[in-house]
Amino acid sequence: MKENMSKETAKIMKKIRFGVDYYPEHWPRERWETDGRLMEELGISVVRMAEFAWHKMEPREGEYKFEWLDEAVRVMGAHGIYTVLGTPTAAPPAWMIEKHPQILPVDSQGQQKGFGGRHHDCQSNEIYRTYIRNLVTALAEHFKENPFVIGWQIDNELGNSHEDLCMCSSCRDHFAQWLQKKYGTIEALNEAWGTVFWSQTYDHFGQVPAPRQTPTAHNPSLLLNWKRFCSDLVVDFHKMQAEIIKKIAPHQKVTHNLMGFYDKTDYFKMSEDLDFASNDQYPTGYYFDPPGQSPAEVAACMDFIRSVKRKNFWMMELESGPTGGSIIGQNPRPGQNRLWTAQCVAHGADAIVYFRWRTCLFGSEQFWHGILPHQGVPKRRYYEIRETIRQLSPVMEDLNGIVTKGEAAILFSYEEDWAIQLQPQHPELTYSGTLLKYYKQLYQRHLPVDFLPPEGDFSEYPVLIAPLLYLMNRKLERKLTDYVKGGGTLVLTMRTGVMDMENVCMSRLPLPGALGAIAGVEVEEYDCLLGSQVSVAYGGQKGTAGKWCDILAPLTAETLVTYDSDYYKGKGAVTVNRCEAGLVYYVGTDLDEGAMEWLFDRIFPDTAGSRPGNPAVEQTVRKGAFKDYLFLLNHSAKPQKAAVSGSWGGEEIQLEPFEVRILEKERS
Ligand code: GAL
Ligand code: ZN
Repeated sequence: MKENMSKETAKIMKKIRFGVDYYPEHWPRERWETDGRLMEELGISVVRMAEFAWHKMEPREGEYKFEWLDEAVRVMGAHGIYTVLGTPTAAPPAWMIEKHPQILPVDSQGQQKGFGGRHHDCQSNEIYRTYIRNLVTALAEHFKENPFVIGWQIDNELGNSHEDLCMCSSCRDHFAQWLQKKYGTIEALNEAWGTVFWSQTYDHFGQVPAPRQTPTAHNPSLLLNWKRFCSDLVVDFHKMQAEIIKKIAPHQKVTHNLMGFYDKTDYFKMSEDLDFASNDQYPTGYYFDPPGQSPAEVAACMDFIRSVKRKNFWMMELESGPTGGSIIGQNPRPGQNRLWTAQCVAHGADAIVYFRWRTCLFGSEQFWHGILPHQGVPKRRYYEIRETIRQLSPVMEDLNGIVTKGEAAILFSYEEDWAIQLQPQHPELTYSGTLLKYYKQLYQRHLPVDFLPPEGDFSEYPVLIAPLLYLMNRKLERKLTDYVKGGGTLVLTMRTGVMDMENVCMSRLPLPGALGAIAGVEVEEYDCLLGSQVSVAYGGQKGTAGKWCDILAPLTAETLVTYDSDYYKGKGAVTVNRCEAGLVYYVGTDLDEGAMEWLFDRIFPDTAGSRPGNPAVEQTVRKGAFKDYLFLLNHSAKPQKAAVSGSWGGEEIQLEPFEVRILEKERS
């Protein structure tokens, strides 16, 4: 029986391409039919519902009310629309908080946050978890045989709204247990963290604080482990719910709406509990932070989400209207909804769900616009999306489930990200910013990219770019060394091999530590460029570099770029070293765009002739079951020309503002 149902769900999933985030609880019952009809006419086959509706589901403790949701699922089903149900655990109701105020989270100043907003919850709190287990069990039992419910989204954007996560006494106790499991004895922790510094030696695990505010800075080892603990806590919180659903309704799929490079939770770990990953993307960015994300950044987020499970993903929330709160963001220009949708497909979305169906009249998101305006009548954005669905559906059918394989990989490690956040070295140095800078070079060369965790299989990729490997361990050193000796090209950067995994400086070897042997280089000295830049020279050209300088002394490496100012003028800034069958580039500074392009012409000689392309036009290839597709995406508000490569006809193509052109080629 369950097996048949699994097959049935899999069959339905393959047919789903477009959806909307729908909140039936925000509208009168009489409106639901109209919504269903308008959605059907739009070409919608799925809705996500109920991810904040705890009070509607359990108005009083233990009194579950799912009839309204049955009804909403049924109305949608009558229009051929399936449902992904959210577990509403991002919004614990007021009665629960009144009865158990200790569920409220505590901030780094020791202040308890108040009820309201959402995620006003502590994820380690046992009372809260008991309420969740009971509700999620009842929900899964109730909907397990509903033929229109194909899956579940657990909570909503976990990690979001949890800036320093909760620092209550329950979380501190859980942290102590987590530390005990990791270190075994308190002596081992003291040794690993160097707690002798400032007399911070602990006598037992219960003394280790959650890093609340102190008169001066915390121990970096404590801070890094706190971030690891918080991430594990979120993964565990999610797993608890996923396991209940999988046990009761194994034929229904489990997903979560991840947020690109959002950093509070290790998505590689969390995704082990997902049947498929989903992503939320608002390309114009948040209204308070114009101008939003660059097209390359949006592309990178989606490549990353595809990489966490190495499977195609769903967009669970794609911006469909102006974002807004107290201030309102820019209305998507004609063509932009289509452009963003096509970009999702180009990077591996099997289904696209727009946030949200209709703009809400009340609550803190009353100006966060959906496809329909407040009045609920179809207007420009509705018709544009309808046209987009008609155009893209056949292409998506051919592409369904077929995963793009990167021609290069970028190593992504949450731990590196956290360590650099804690000690950025230079105020403007960020892990994600640095990764994006390298990603952009690949993006501009139209090279597909996968992101790999340190545990990934490097040998599948001819080129591995591994920026800011600040924390280092023997295992990773060995893996990278084997990769290079086996013929891989590895790109390392400044601040490689600085710390051990406990965030303690390593001193056995000169920087970059053991990887100096394969990079054929030593860092003689380093210089942080606070408020200044240096000149660099390469291949007869001049450029600039910023943020940081590793002053390089090549052992066996060849110097490609030298510094051209300051006391280290003439010294190495970028080197390349042959090591057995492979190559190692060491980039000791933050190069300007021109120098980066020159360097990448060396790393990818085959792409050197293909530029300068038009950077406003993205070109991304996807292979379908029957055809290959080239997505030409004009991300600018101006007409653009783009030259496509010989294999795509070699022509120069004229594109209107925000135009999407998809070239198709039968498989030869
Ligand atoms: C997302 C969230 C949605 C909604 C949206 C617009 O982060 O998942 O529930 O809040 O942003 O603000
Ligand atoms: Zn807590």
